[in-house]
Amino acid sequence: MRFSRDEKWVLSIVILSLGIVTYFAVKNDSYHWIAITSLLGVLVVITLVIGNFRRLRARVDELGRDGQSVVALYSILNPGIPLPELGGYALSANKAAKLMELALDKKPKLIVELGSGVSTLVLAYCLKKNGAGRIVSYDHDENFARITRENVEKHNLSEYVEVIHAPIGEVEIGNNKVKWYQIDINKIDENIDFLFVDGPPRKTQEMARYPAMKFFDNKLESGAIVLLDDANRRDEIKIKELWIEESGGLIRDYGNFREEMFIARKK
Ligand SMILES: C[S@@+](CC[C@H](N)C(=O)[O-])C[C@H]1O[C@@H](n2cnc3c(N)ncnc32)[C@H](O)[C@@H]1O
Repeated sequence: MRFSRDEKWVLSIVILSLGIVTYFAVKNDSYHWIAITSLLGVLVVITLVIGNFRRLRARVDELGRDGQSVVALYSILNPGIPLPELGGYALSANKAAKLMELALDKKPKLIVELGSGVSTLVLAYCLKKNGAGRIVSYDHDENFARITRENVEKHNLSEYVEVIHAPIGEVEIGNNKVKWYQIDINKIDENIDFLFVDGPPRKTQEMARYPAMKFFDNKLESGAIVLLDDANRRDEIKIKELWIEESGGLIRDYGNFREEMFIARKK
């Protein structure tokens, strides 16, 4: 059983209160207070244990889904060597399988990805299987861009992938100056039909991924798939609402994918 920091605080307060009440109850011969406090303490502990159990069950379900997804990824994409570890900063296996399903179904000609990593390899394997298409992946971090480039080479996928180091800087979008990837949009010479937004990370600024739609909107082909990862986080909940409100042509018709990835289509 693992308790969070907040839960540990609650437990400590319960134990401390029980100690204090017991001390004064014994001193004043009012033992009923010990019974009342103990009962409240037991209720709090039961509540925490139930919460813990629910979280554990959700995690087990998630691991089960990830297991099935790993089998799907490897059997369908058949990578020559193992993929780097999924999960953590990288997409979970389950989300990677969803990405694969969409890329195999849509057969995109140009994928633009913000935030490179295992997802770049998964998408590139899909393009290889589709027999066409390319992916341009931007990373604000030179080191991670290099790691992805090396992995792309190891997996013999260079003909499908271009990884570009695009540091975050002040960029003019519309009439506003915002912090965004320094991308030369004029170098994107065809329309994007698959946009996967998995960067920049939150630590670069608040609402870090919000500028994506404004920045790429004119380059998005009608029917393009737009994905936003981590869609259940506070910032991303706001971002997807603003995207739908402001872009005027984003349709959410692929469901929510358990709230963790926002999947939409441009009209
Ligand atoms: C959410 S990650 C992108 C993950 C990628 N799309 C994937 O599925 O593997 C966003 C950015 O975090 C950075 N990053 C990747 N792995 C990291 C790690 N282990 N620790 C810190 N930053 C990391 C990279 O610069 C990346 O562009």
